[in-house]
Amino acid sequence: MPAFQWSKSNEVFVRSIDDQHQVVFHALGELQNALHSGASRAAVKEILQRLVGCLEEHFAHEEKLMRGARYLSFDWHRQQHNTVRKRLRHFAPAIEAGDRDAGHELVEFLLRWLEDHTAVTDRMMGAYLRNQERTLIR
Ligand SMILES: [Fe+2]
Repeated sequence: MPAFQWSKSNEVFVRSIDDQHQVVFHALGELQNALHSGASRAAVKEILQRLVGCLEEHFAHEEKLMRGARYLSFDWHRQQHNTVRKRLRHFAPAIEAGDRDAGHELVEFLLRWLEDHTAVTDRMMGAYLRNQERTLIR
């Protein structure tokens, strides 16, 4: 069972985003577990690649929704995604080469980043998207 898990307290109240957050949180919990339990390098690599893939897909999804809604804080939000993209590019090669410390460092960064980003930045976006949807329906 992953130590790090999505819970209702992480909800941003947009279904497609909450669904993807659960997948991302789960993959990160798996990576955390694999590193703590001393899983093989191949197993760590497989989970890391899955995590990178679902994060990329997820950021692209949010950015598409924000662009479509002409969200005013788009640049600020995307900047935060870019910080993660940069960290992943920096850490992934070392982790795949078997550097466990790099793995722990990335996991620690992502645990904090995801909690903060989903609690503030994603919730602001979620509120905007829901309001816009209500306005369009009227
Ligand atoms: Fe986001």
